[in-house]
Order: sequence, then structure tokens, then C-alpha cells
Amino acid sequence: MPAVLQHRAGCRGNVLIGPEQIDLIIDTDPGADDVVALLFALASPDEFNVRALTTVAGNVRLDKTSRNARLAREWAGREDVPVYAGAPKPMMRTPIYAEDIHGKEGLSGVAVYEPKAGLAEANAIDYLIDTLMAATPRSITLAILGPQTNLALALIQQPGIVQGIKEVVIMGGAHFNGGNITPVAEFNVFADPHAAEVVLKSGLKLIYLSLDATHKILTSDERLKQIAALNNRASKLVVDILNDYIKADMEHYDIPGGPVHDAAVIAWLLRPQLFSGREVNVVIDSREGPTFGQTIVDWHDRLKAPRNAFWVNDGDAQGFFDLLTERLGRLK
Ligand code: RIB
Ligand code: CA
Repeated sequence: MPAVLQHRAGCRGNVLIGPEQIDLIIDTDPGADDVVALLFALASPDEFNVRALTTVAGNVRLDKTSRNARLAREWAGREDVPVYAGAPKPMMRTPIYAEDIHGKEGLSGVAVYEPKAGLAEANAIDYLIDTLMAATPRSITLAILGPQTNLALALIQQPGIVQGIKEVVIMGGAHFNGGNITPVAEFNVFADPHAAEVVLKSGLKLIYLSLDATHKILTSDERLKQIAALNNRASKLVVDILNDYIKADMEHYDIPGGPVHDAAVIAWLLRPQLFSGREVNVVIDSREGPTFGQTIVDWHDRLKAPRNAFWVNDGDAQGFFDLLTERLGRLK
């Protein structure tokens, strides 16, 4: 029976945020699949009280990931949600980007432009620290769709922020599937393995949506037609973005469709029963060499080491696309 996490009602100060609402901060490096995930989340106000988007360098440089997060916010009609820019580079390693996959602007297949609403004043790390220190205990869920640099820096600066965090749902890592940036490493972890190690050692409740799961949830012509049939602006943007984004993976892996990695994090939060996995011990290799950025998953508990993450390794592809389509249909 897949793990199904019950979402509890919560309070922010004296305001009940809704019987089933999740108080959510999304940390992101848009990025094509990030934009799909952001539209998905921002189209779901009954389930998510999206407190803020925090941006990080990853797929492209910080100025572009921040602009693209503002674009997604505008396309979702949700300029009520602030966007805070965070870390411009990884904690220690030389920065790497994924322009070959996401394009020079971090978002190909659609026209990008300077969105109307600007960035919030504060730095994302300061925002995370202030918000999580003031939050009701274990009330805020973090969704991390890029390198984990912002959360790691906030934890180092103020370890007490763990008090405000309910759980951290991470798109990252690979075990059974193998890597997508090296034979063993997934991009988000490879782009800042030291940050991922800090988060892993924090003792926080971590859920990893790894390539093991996202590579089983692939687009198809029918699934993209299902989205296109919505015939609204959001669906056209998503189809145009995905048609461009999936080409690289389809060619590289010789597969009939492409993964929409980051959107799986939002689907997990909405319908965890679409997925399955298990509590495991995960270790991240941050040593220079061929295994740099590898997530080593003790799936069969060989070492009897503490289980420090819930590792999602499978998902219901059609259920995912049905849910994504239904939510995109709620946008203009
Ligand atoms: O490996 C996939 C991840 O790397 C996704 O988050 C994608 O946006 C890139 O950041
Ligand atoms: Ca991403």
C-alpha cells in the first residue's frame, strides 16, 4: 500500500489556513518543468496556501530563474504571491547550468519577456529564516525544485528554522534509473551536492521525488493533446514548453515521451496515493570524481543505517497527467 500522507489542517498565527490547505513555499530554478510545476501549484488554491516562491541559480543564472518564476506567477494570474531571489551560485562547487536543455533564457518554446510584477525586496535566505522562525511549529511545507542551496544556507545561518518546517519535498536524486547529468547523478543534486548533504543531515522530514519516479511519468502525444484540448492560455504555454523541453530526454534515452520532473512534487502533495516508495537511508557523495553528486540509496536496508528520507521510486503516469490537466483547466 503506497504511503499516503494525511494533510492536516493548520494555523498561521490565528488564521486557519483551510481544512486541508498546505502552507507552502516553493523553491525553484525555472526551468521548463519548474514553470509547469508552478502553474500546477498556483492553480490549486484550495489545497495550497502558496506563501512565496524563492528562486535559486540552477538551470540558468539567478536573474533568469527569478524572471521566469515571475512569468509563471503572471501566467497563473497569481501576482499576490511574492517572489524572493536567493543564492546566485552553489555553496562550494563551480556553478553549472542546463541551458542545453532549458535554452539560454531557461524557458524555450515560448516567448519570454519582463513580467509586470517585480521581485520582493528581501533575499530568499533571509525570507526563509524570518518566516520559518516565526511560523507555527511544523506548519510550513517546502517544495524544492532545483539545487538545495537556499535551504542549506538558511539552515547553516539559523539551524532553528527546522521548528517551522513540516516536511521538505524535493525533486532530486537517482538510484535505479541512473543519472541525467552523469551516469549516476541527477542535475539538482549534482549542481550543489554540499547543499543536499546539509539538508539531508538536518533531521527534517524529507521526501525525494527521484528520477526513479519521474522517468516513469512520461508525456505522450495523447497526454499532450489532452492538455491542448483545454484550449486556454495556460495549456497552450505548457504544451509549447513541453514540446521543446522533452526533445532532449526523448533523444538521449530513446524514449517515446519526456519526464516533467518538478511537477511530480506538486502531484505528490496533491495526491500522494499516485506514488509509491519507502523510507530509506540516503547518502550523497560530494567527493570529486565519477560519483560526484550521486545519491546512494540503501533500498534493501543492507547497512541498517538510519532511514533519513522517503524515496519515491514509482508513480501513476496517467493519473498524474489527468490531475495536471484538470488543474491547468482552472487557469485562464
Ligand atoms: O534533473 C531534473 C531537475 O533538474 C529538474 O528540477 C529540472 O528543472 C532541473 O532543475
Ligand atoms: Ca528545476
